[in-house]
Amino acid sequence: MSVKILAIETSCDETAVAVVENGRDVLINEVLSQIDIHKEFGGVVPEVASRYHMEGIIPLIEKALKGASLTLDDIDAVAVTNGPGLIGALLVGVSVAKALAFALGKPLIAVNHLSGHIYANFLENEINFPSVTLIVSGGHTDLIYMENHLEFQVLGQTRDDAAGEAFDKIARSLKLGYPGGPIVDKMANSGEDNLGFPRVYLEKGSLDFSFSGLKSAVINYLHNQKQKGLQVKIEDVCASFQQAVVEVLVDKTIECAKQKNVKHVMMAGGVSANSSLRSLMKERTIKNNLNLYYPPLKYCTDNAAMIGAVAYYQFIAQDFAPLDLNAFSTMTLDNVYKK
Ligand code: KG4
Ligand code: ZN
Repeated sequence: MSVKILAIETSCDETAVAVVENGRDVLINEVLSQIDIHKEFGGVVPEVASRYHMEGIIPLIEKALKGASLTLDDIDAVAVTNGPGLIGALLVGVSVAKALAFALGKPLIAVNHLSGHIYANFLENEINFPSVTLIVSGGHTDLIYMENHLEFQVLGQTRDDAAGEAFDKIARSLKLGYPGGPIVDKMANSGEDNLGFPRVYLEKGSLDFSFSGLKSAVINYLHNQKQKGLQVKIEDVCASFQQAVVEVLVDKTIECAKQKNVKHVMMAGGVSANSSLRSLMKERTIKNNLNLYYPPLKYCTDNAAMIGAVAYYQFIAQDFAPLDLNAFSTMTLDNVYKK
């Protein structure tokens, strides 16, 4: 049997539509980024995001279907991210998906954005369980254990800032623009980790994260240098900050894999595009005899192909959503129907 899912993602500042067949074959993957619009404000403005989703979503669905040479009749189900994310932004995608499912008489599938990030890994890899995934995005930093499809156990999470959020805030302090991650990544390439910023591990054995202390250390350093009238080498600040984040992310992921005795490690979310994180994680997983997977760059940041990937497994499990489905700004990984 072939299952074609039309997937819609509007949880933040990307309007995204994809058609994915059998959870693997991406027939089309369209992303309408609002980055240039939000750049002006130095970050995502929620109401502006909702309005752009509203304008963009239907033309993008039309474009996607045309690009894949499909019509709505070819679609077996409609999947949509219904949380976590910006509520006004989510509501646009959820309303459109519900209307389509209703009009077409096809099943509606509600997808958790974070499970989407994890399943971006399944688009191009054959992955075995049990596995551990490090999710690092603008809003999340989590370590997730899975024994089977759709069975998520959260083993660690951030107690304050998410990794991507820390990258964005540091970039803002350095006046590097938005989103900060890719710019810091690039600048760090020509800098040195020579400023001694703290690596925060919390209690021994803890799989939780905390990045606010590191963020304050960087900001204090910038203030002190300014007060003393001393020059700051931005590349070194980026390299020192990035290395402090990356070492903790990698150490805790390896610790998590050891604690759960798993062989398969995945990375997911926008920060998994970071070059330094990828290279250190590669090095350390090889050293520890672990298999490492991460999505291609285009599936690391927000997209709808990843939503279509996880939705396929929900389709097989007949996990269909009711037409009174709502959207939620916060959501646990195991529940798409309520907060
Ligand atoms: O997963 P994503 O597209 O959206 C959320 O669900 O949050 O992640 C966006 C985050 C932003 O904070 C961005 O700065 C960060 O991912 N990011 C990076 C890199 N590319 C994107 N962070 C570090 N290095 C990168 N190369
Ligand atoms: Zn995301």
